[in-house]
Amino acid sequence: MKIISDIQELRDHLRGQNRASFVPTMGNLHEGHLSLMRLARQHGDPVVASIFVNRLQFGPNEDFDSYPRTMQADIDKLEKEGVYILFAPTERDLYPQPQEYRVEPPEQLGKILEGEFRPGFFQGVCTVVLKLFSCVQPKVAVFGKKDYQQLMIIRQMAKQFALPVDIIPGETIRADDGLALSSRNSYLTPEQRVEAPHLQRILNEVRHQVLDLKDRNSASLSQIEKQAVEQLVKRGWQPDYIAIRQQIDLSISSDESLQNGESLVILTAAKIGNTRLIDNLEI
Ligand code: PAF
Repeated sequence: MKIISDIQELRDHLRGQNRASFVPTMGNLHEGHLSLMRLARQHGDPVVASIFVNRLQFGPNEDFDSYPRTMQADIDKLEKEGVYILFAPTERDLYPQPQEYRVEPPEQLGKILEGEFRPGFFQGVCTVVLKLFSCVQPKVAVFGKKDYQQLMIIRQMAKQFALPVDIIPGETIRADDGLALSSRNSYLTPEQRVEAPHLQRILNEVRHQVLDLKDRNSASLSQIEKQAVEQLVKRGWQPDYIAIRQQIDLSISSDESLQNGESLVILTAAKIGNTRLIDNLEI
């Protein structure tokens, strides 16, 4: 595997490749990321991965400094997956000047849910992803469904800017006890790690409650959301949200669209101790 930090060198290496398949990451790779590498391989060749902890998407009180950086272990894993190029720019490589041009997603997608609790997050994500796309120029790029809202926003960005890249979703990979794999799971104490799978358990309960509803309407959905939040609080979590939304655009369901049998997704973010976990479940 070639490890490249310089944008020009990356372009030189990829010259003439028009089927490259790209997986952007922030490193600290786990089985979830590796499943995205395998999916990337099915959709293009060569596979290019990136590791860059993107300061722009972290708020001032978030974990940019402490975000786990495990470059050598990551390199070993990517080599085993047969990744052709690892693009691992430094901040100076990717942002040689202050990044003053930014991509701002539309409010109705970018300022809800994660965007409400992490102001500037999606602007930072879109800006770096657009820049990484411009460096790698992939034919396809793979993003995990664990970051459901991120995936949707990047898809829309690619569409609205007519970027010549197909966005492929990768399924969430879970530990045996149901906890969605995430780099931030490494922050959990042993006790919190035992508690953490309850987030997915509660999402499953919400899913059953929605499916069992005889008369689906927006009031009954918000009642289910409220009870689920209360359940998390009782267990010692600090939930930011549990939201049942339309899969198509993450908007709140109207009674009419519910009657028409639209597809829903349950999204959640909640803190256990100092660690904020996110998860989601499609209905
Ligand atoms: O999902 C992530 O790891 C990051 O948000 C991404 C897409 C690599 C952008 O920094």
